[in-house]
Amino acid sequence: MKPTFEFSNDEKGELFDVLRSIKESPYLDYAGFHNRIKALIADQKIPEFFINVCEKVRSERRSKKSYSHLLRNVPLDEHIPMFDQDDPVHDKYEKKKSFVGEAFLELFAQLTDSPLLAYQTRNNGDFFHDVYAHKKYSQTQTQKTDGELFFHNDRTAHPVRADYLSLLGMRCCESNRIYTGYLDGRTLLDHLTEEQQATLRKRLFVTPYDEYSRDSNRQQVISDSHAILENEHSFRYYDTRTTYAPGAPNEAIDALLALKNAIVKANKERVQILTGDLFSFANQDALHNRELIEVKDPELALKRWLLKTYSFRDQHSLQRFNDYFTREQPGLVKESAARN
Ligand SMILES: [Fe+2]
Repeated sequence: MKPTFEFSNDEKGELFDVLRSIKESPYLDYAGFHNRIKALIADQKIPEFFINVCEKVRSERRSKKSYSHLLRNVPLDEHIPMFDQDDPVHDKYEKKKSFVGEAFLELFAQLTDSPLLAYQTRNNGDFFHDVYAHKKYSQTQTQKTDGELFFHNDRTAHPVRADYLSLLGMRCCESNRIYTGYLDGRTLLDHLTEEQQATLRKRLFVTPYDEYSRDSNRQQVISDSHAILENEHSFRYYDTRTTYAPGAPNEAIDALLALKNAIVKANKERVQILTGDLFSFANQDALHNRELIEVKDPELALKRWLLKTYSFRDQHSLQRFNDYFTREQPGLVKESAARN
């Protein structure tokens, strides 16, 4: 995929100098962190070029020109710690003392007017979470796996789902050819008949929650019956997990098979996310996957780290889910479930 923008080293340094000043921890005080970034924008501390880049992303999303954007050579923290593989989330709290990566993601979200989303029972309610291998989830279909991921969108089973995902390469080994595949929903529609699309728009399908979600919240086992196709070209689908609901008619099974064929046939884009890359793309208006094409250094593959955010399309999209959020923090989904 062709990058939308590549920072020069001078531009990277300029933005780094602004973001390194942030001392508030997004893990201890997200509201304080969010407001600090907001103040940087209001005080005109953000370099003009980056405001323009974000405006380009925002306008290409709105005009439907593109729902995927790749920025290269963006500023990251000076020190990128290694986490253990038994409890990497808690190890991050111990070891990560600067927040340049998080500040960059928050700034990108604010300048593209796409507010962040988090879940109380997932990653402790953090707005910034990690694609990082966790031993317990080896070879699962979760964000903590060390393996491949089939085509899907994130939190498929959950009623509140992000419009956009952003993945920031914090540590990626270039010789390990690990690719993020992207499949625009419009391309998928080209391979489905009107009739198949109409069936996919019916609530005839279910998706079980993944292992990481189930461990975080025992009430999350399987979704309610849902449509696979929504809006113009939003897909709610996780390959090999989403299936027809019990008692669904044969047309649901036929449409599901047609979708599986469409996924095989459709043109995909692939991105090898490298250290310093930001790949931001539609979660629901597209599907994505992870392929391990060639892993030359398995040790470094285990230490691959992408910092990740979920975001809404705009303020209006966030407000549609107001009933789900905690009173104190818009965007934080409250989930008073039994926890392990
Ligand atoms: Fe994903």
